[in-house]
Amino acid sequence: MPRKIVIFDTTLRDGEQSPGASMNLSEKLALARQLAALNVDVIEAGFPFSSPLDFESVSTIAKEVEGPVICGLARTIEKDIDACYEAVKHAPRHRIHTFVGTSPLHLEKKLRKSPSEVLDMAVAAVKFARERCDDVEFSAEDAMRTELAYLRDVVEAVIEAGATTVNIPDTVGYTVPWVMEETIRYLFDNVPNIKQTVISVHCHDDLGLSVANSLAAVRAGAGQVECTVNGIGERAGNASLEEIVMALRTRADVFGCTTGVQTTQIVKTSRMVSSFTGFPVQPNKAIVGANAFRHEAGIHQHGVLMDRQTYEIMEPKDVGWSDSVLTLGPRSGKHGVRHRLEDLGYKVSDEQLEEIYKRFIEMADRKKQIYDEDLELIMREATATVPQVWTLVSLQTTSGDSTMPTATVKLQKEGEVLQDAACGNGPVDAAFRAIDRITGMTLVLEDYSLRSVTQGKDAVGEATLHVRRGEDETVGRAADTDVVKASALAYLNAVNRLLVRDMQD
Ligand code: KIV
Ligand code: ZN
Repeated sequence: MPRKIVIFDTTLRDGEQSPGASMNLSEKLALARQLAALNVDVIEAGFPFSSPLDFESVSTIAKEVEGPVICGLARTIEKDIDACYEAVKHAPRHRIHTFVGTSPLHLEKKLRKSPSEVLDMAVAAVKFARERCDDVEFSAEDAMRTELAYLRDVVEAVIEAGATTVNIPDTVGYTVPWVMEETIRYLFDNVPNIKQTVISVHCHDDLGLSVANSLAAVRAGAGQVECTVNGIGERAGNASLEEIVMALRTRADVFGCTTGVQTTQIVKTSRMVSSFTGFPVQPNKAIVGANAFRHEAGIHQHGVLMDRQTYEIMEPKDVGWSDSVLTLGPRSGKHGVRHRLEDLGYKVSDEQLEEIYKRFIEMADRKKQIYDEDLELIMREATATVPQVWTLVSLQTTSGDSTMPTATVKLQKEGEVLQDAACGNGPVDAAFRAIDRITGMTLVLEDYSLRSVTQGKDAVGEATLHVRRGEDETVGRAADTDVVKASALAYLNAVNRLLVRDMQD
């Protein structure tokens, strides 16, 4: 019997800690639902004590998302653990995940505590959490830079205190696969009560080794892997869920393990994460990159035509890639659009379909073929939940190599239309400046990118940007066949997100 590895998804917690990756409540809820469709075992939904918004999103997910265990993070502090419990308790299956640093650096510089004091904190926190919840995970933060004998003592003590999962994080992405394997084997050989718990691993990608290190831990006996979709997370990110899952599945011959993940949902989940965070997926990214299953060299194409397996170790459809094109045109009916959406795994209400169809017709008037990616984009925009505080009424730009780029923008807010114009070092810059003048907000543009959603000269351009207002950062996204308009709409999307946040505060 293959061993079943628990897939613990932390996209909503560690993933959301990526600088600039913050999602709003409805996006977090939509992503949590999609993670449930992906059939991960555990969703780490956030860090409830860290902010009222995090508390609200974890408790909303706990109330509304069915299937996976819903977990929250807490330091080894009673008020953290209480807040975590209050947020996760609504889920039929919930987990408290408490952590404390165990490496000499963490003890001396961050916590200023002795090894025995930290061990006591860990034990007390696990006992406190167990009084509230049967499912308690403990993480020895920076475990891979912790002295082995001390790590052993901590692991034994927290199991004794009732930890049902013990996580060995490589917090700074420092380890290498064979050291990880030796560490996990050492724990299995030297912790007498280790069989009473599940050993977990949580690897960061600072040296690009997070997936290899996680798999090495599985090989040594770890029963849970913590990972994120697209590998997003602190600094260089976490181990990527799709790579872990597909490695275990494709090389079941060497690992002898399975997961419960519904792999055909992988591409859809990856697109959702990329869209919500504004972090594009690099084309050569394993499994979910646009080129992951494309063959360029003639010799490869020839081989694949003869037998896909000559140059392919996985089938694109198994991870949710579809190469079909919606061949409907401007005169096509709503039924066909709904049918294609259902094929892609989306269920929409009649009301949402009305809006999707309206946008579909607008796009079909401008574009010859509507690809699945276009349809998904239409769907995301039509069902977007960012309230339109400001809406774009019109945009006019002039630019060229012998003229000063200028933009004239008309925006509407609560029925009132305001207009202004500005110059910039290009039409996009000019449009952003004109928007700033109307809204009275001055935003710092941290990052801006434009990508073509599908192929062809008539392709839709999607603009994604990150803006900052003081300490507050957000993402803005929009798409249009006119890239300057897409950029202005993305900027306005970011403005609206910030204004909605102000209203919630
Ligand atoms: O990287 C880390 O150590 C963490 C812990 C909180 C598990 O994210
Ligand atoms: Zn982490």
